[in-house]
Amino acid sequence: MLLRKVKGVIVRSVVSGDEDDVASIHNVAFGEWVETLGDEYDYQYISPRDVAAWIKERRDRQECLWIAETNDTAVGYVHCSLNDIHSKKNLKELVLVPTSWDMGQSKIAVIPRYRRQAIASALVWKCVKHFKRAGANLALAVAYNDNKAASKLLQGLGFVHHERFYHRPYSDKRPWRHDTVYAELNLSQPVTSPQRLNLHVTVRCAREEDAKRVAEIFRKSAPWTPFGPNVSTDQILQHYLKGKSHETILVAEYKGEIAGVMDFNSKNSRLGILGVAPEYRKKGIGYTLFYHLLEHMRRKGLPKAIADTGIVLSDAIRMYKRFNLKIVRRQYSWIKILNNDS
Ligand SMILES: CC(C)(COP(=O)(O)OP(=O)(O)OC[C@H]1O[C@@H](n2cnc3c(N)ncnc32)[C@H](O)[C@@H]1OP(=O)(O)O)[C@@H](O)C(=O)NCCC(=O)NCCS
Repeated sequence: MLLRKVKGVIVRSVVSGDEDDVASIHNVAFGEWVETLGDEYDYQYISPRDVAAWIKERRDRQECLWIAETNDTAVGYVHCSLNDIHSKKNLKELVLVPTSWDMGQSKIAVIPRYRRQAIASALVWKCVKHFKRAGANLALAVAYNDNKAASKLLQGLGFVHHERFYHRPYSDKRPWRHDTVYAELNLSQPVTSPQRLNLHVTVRCAREEDAKRVAEIFRKSAPWTPFGPNVSTDQILQHYLKGKSHETILVAEYKGEIAGVMDFNSKNSRLGILGVAPEYRKKGIGYTLFYHLLEHMRRKGLPKAIADTGIVLSDAIRMYKRFNLKIVRRQYSWIKILNNDS
């Protein structure tokens, strides 16, 4: 790809003392999303302290920020990290770090009055070049389907978008990356109950003594979460059952056993589907639990329910549709292959 030379623009690594500039660029560039989507999609205005923490908190990975300057003014920044992925081949992925892992968009930001001057292109290009030399096999950026500027920018830099992106050195069967959908339900009306409510299911709030079973369901249903196979029950209890102050966790009891777990966060209206244990699926337990979860959110006075899920989780998406949740937005994964000889 030929990159047009950008007159008078310097792209350099962020050094100590740049935190104020990065925070103000971020706040202006992402301000539109902070104002429109806010907490529900994990957008907040940030402080220089947050910028310092981005670098510090993940020392185990190669993490860096680049800043673009013109006439000694900082006008744009990009945040990236290099992650090792262990699969049938060991691969390195350059990630243009999102504002939030579940809900966000890659931190590529340019102050509005300096846009359309190839500044973002210069920033992304610089970090792609840098990490390609450091052995990165692929680069990933995420952006909403309706973010026209980001889509055009990434396309122009040779990134491609597929709903599911397969990379053979990783796996023929599992996508390397896939899109995420965000679905919402207006809770001003009672939730329509599906025909498949299972009347033998009791739904109640999770208790501490449920930890072992909740951990088991976590491991079976959501192995990709931070609570995957190697995490102990105690850690799960600490983080999940006790840790989140705004979280309400509901469990479905069926024949004296906990069969499924779901939760919601009353601060941002987001719900989480931990899942139904595989041996209890196809009995209407998930739908029953989901129905009670939505009703619980409505009775708490939450204006809407927001769900995010990977496009590959077709059972969850089917369930959202049954309950009339509308897909309002998608997070596209944009990929660029850097070294395919791995
Ligand atoms: C996306 C963003 C970083 C682009 O910054 P930029 O410096 O204007 O981008 P560039 O000038 O390098 O643009 C490169 C190409 O992208 C496309 N592009 C950029 N902005 C565009 C827009 N608003 N509409 C259509 N195409 C656009 C064009 O093809 C452009 O080339 P051209 O100007 O020669 O036509 C900037 O709009 C921004 O900060 N937005 C808010 C934060 C954000 O969305 N970040 C990205 C999340 S993934």
